[in-house]
Amino acid sequence: MHNAFLGVEPANIEWRPAKIREGSTESPPLVPYSKQFNDIYFDSRDGKAETDYVFLDGNKLPERFAALTEGSFTIVETGFGTGLNLLRTCELWRNTQKGSKAVLNFISIEQYPISPDDLQKMYLALGVESEFTEELLAQYPPAMPGVYTIELPCRIMLRLILCPIDKALKEFAAGSEFKVDAWYLDGFAPSKNPQMWSKGLLHFMALHAVNNGERQTTFATFTAASMVRKQLRHYGFEVAKQKGFGFKREMLVGSFQEKTISSPHPTLADSYFNRETPKQAKVAIIGAGLAGCATAHSLHQRGIEAHLFESGDCLASGASKMPALLATPNISLDHNAFSQLTFLGLSHLERFIYRQQKTGNQLSFSKRCLQLGSEKYSEYQLEQYVGTYHQRYWSPDLLQWSKTRIESQEHKGLLMPGILVNGSQFCEALVASIPKQQIHLNHDVKSLEELNEFDHIVLATGHGNLLHKLADDEPSLSPLRGQLTELQQSPKQRLGLEYPINYDGHLFEYENKLIVGATFDMSLDQAINLQDRVKNIEQANERFGLQLKQKDCTDWVGIRATTYDRFPYCGPLKDRTDVSPVIWTNYGMGTRGLCLSILCGEIIASAINNEVISLPKYLLQRISPQRTQK
Ligand SMILES: Cc1cc2nc3c(=O)[nH]c(=O)nc-3n(C[C@H](O)[C@H](O)[C@H](O)COP(=O)(O)OP(=O)(O)OC[C@H]3O[C@@H](n4cnc5c(N)ncnc54)[C@H](O)[C@@H]3O)c2cc1C
Ligand SMILES: C[S@@+](CC[C@H](N)C(=O)[O-])C[C@H]1O[C@@H](n2cnc3c(N)ncnc32)[C@H](O)[C@@H]1O
Repeated sequence: MHNAFLGVEPANIEWRPAKIREGSTESPPLVPYSKQFNDIYFDSRDGKAETDYVFLDGNKLPERFAALTEGSFTIVETGFGTGLNLLRTCELWRNTQKGSKAVLNFISIEQYPISPDDLQKMYLALGVESEFTEELLAQYPPAMPGVYTIELPCRIMLRLILCPIDKALKEFAAGSEFKVDAWYLDGFAPSKNPQMWSKGLLHFMALHAVNNGERQTTFATFTAASMVRKQLRHYGFEVAKQKGFGFKREMLVGSFQEKTISSPHPTLADSYFNRETPKQAKVAIIGAGLAGCATAHSLHQRGIEAHLFESGDCLASGASKMPALLATPNISLDHNAFSQLTFLGLSHLERFIYRQQKTGNQLSFSKRCLQLGSEKYSEYQLEQYVGTYHQRYWSPDLLQWSKTRIESQEHKGLLMPGILVNGSQFCEALVASIPKQQIHLNHDVKSLEELNEFDHIVLATGHGNLLHKLADDEPSLSPLRGQLTELQQSPKQRLGLEYPINYDGHLFEYENKLIVGATFDMSLDQAINLQDRVKNIEQANERFGLQLKQKDCTDWVGIRATTYDRFPYCGPLKDRTDVSPVIWTNYGMGTRGLCLSILCGEIIASAINNEVISLPKYLLQRISPQRTQK
């Protein structure tokens, strides 16, 4: 089997006694040591001072940060390691940026992430615990390849790319307008780890370097290896040697002068970038379900005026109205592209839920779910997934074989991440901070010409596209009708489920409700069907030995919009960079609207705002609506 996780593995750390002064009687502190690379992560005597000297001062950051009052500053680091460089940069940023509006983008690439437990130990040992370490650890991703966006205090945005560096740079999703202000070249010694100092990196550095009087790209590195020096010069950087830190004799610093560099061949992913977006862009979003509300949320967060148009009389009047929606990742033995997309989707959703929770809004009724053997996953397969995924999750109980009791029966299954929300409440939370006059309910958009005043239009119309296509080149969707049944329960009737249960259906319990179903039919019929209620209840009774009755039930019907390959259609409809408004689609979420909506909203908002996109290019190509037209 190919390496499904692209070579991303948890770091193999050993805690070793630090070197101390000869003759010292102190007992040496333990410091982290990389067994993969046979090297230390930082100077064991004073890691903080080393970082400050080599990377912060080497890039003249104290002066450059102090001079910045608005806009943004972008740092790229090769090798996230312990995050010490990030943390020292955050401290400097906080101390120099009081009263400023500027944003710090910190992008760091890492193939071997260190476990949060080890990181916590290191932060304690280094004396760097702070609001930044707290947030970093709370949002730290599993050891799976991907681009993870982590919001830190003081307007700092960390993009942690878990991927081997060669692939990370090739798949980096940003246009040629993306420019780096400072580089931290920190990937262990070139002699021990030549991949981190390849020509691909130098080419990328030159491609995204700038020298225009106002901005100039700089770099700093602990090494003075002649191969690195020569390559940097060849790719247009002026290089100077300076005294190294501590016992190290020399290190390198420098800045970009000039170099003409060829761009890689454009792919479908490039249609997301380099649009002319006016400063005061206005965006219309049609459809206020999960997809539309998440897009509006992401745009609004960026200060972009987003207007939602919804034909129904409330938010979530389509498939998103379900009282219980569960988000789980798609697991596969080869961790295929769809699995990768859903794991990344889930991590975006988890961070949104986390931020809401911090403001006192408890949106999710669960963090875990139990996947039982079903038609889709046999018990044998589920046991195999434990081997595939378990060691990548830092929490020992996750993606682990587990048991639960429902009434008198015991059930075995795979314990997975699982977020359970109420669809309407979730949509309300997404748009809570958007001014009311930008939310247009009871507004059925009949033609895109109605929205000519907007610079961008996002079609988040769910299965609406099947009834009436608003743009000629919209891709086709298929309907998958579903009915859920909700039973009111008295305290005595409660099953006391430990987790939401997934099998060939769902069994969810929260507050005083038990949810069973759902059905699947290729139909557009939105009427409630009593036979489907019977089906839902009987399915749960048979599987779990329950005696649920058709009393005090409410049914919910919706039409899922599905695509031919399960991937949503999320991106620009055409390469019409010169045409306004630009039309985007954000639909085709199928059975995974909750898992994918926050990620998809972020993708469209960051593309409209000309930012780096939190998805590798090969996955952007898989979700592009243009994939069916080429
Ligand atoms: C029974 C059932 C159970 C489900 N369970 C889960 C689950 O557990 N987990 C999960 O992740 N997903 C689940 N899903 C799928 C999930 O509901 C969808 O993936 C998700 O809601 C899709 O969101 P959306 O915003 O794309 O579409 P919708 O919620 O359908 O929103 C589209 C909106 O666009 C509006 N609209 C359309 N055309 C126009 C127009 N011309 N002008 C103005 N407004 C327009 C519609 O009124 C609608 O409100 C379930 C679906 C069903 C039916
Ligand atoms: C010296 S450490 C970086 C220290 C880090 N900057 C810090 O603040 O702690 C180098 C890092 O590069 C990572 N690394 C090594 N080879 C890599 C590769 N090919 N791709 C991505 N990361 C790699 C290692 O796992 C290690 O964490």
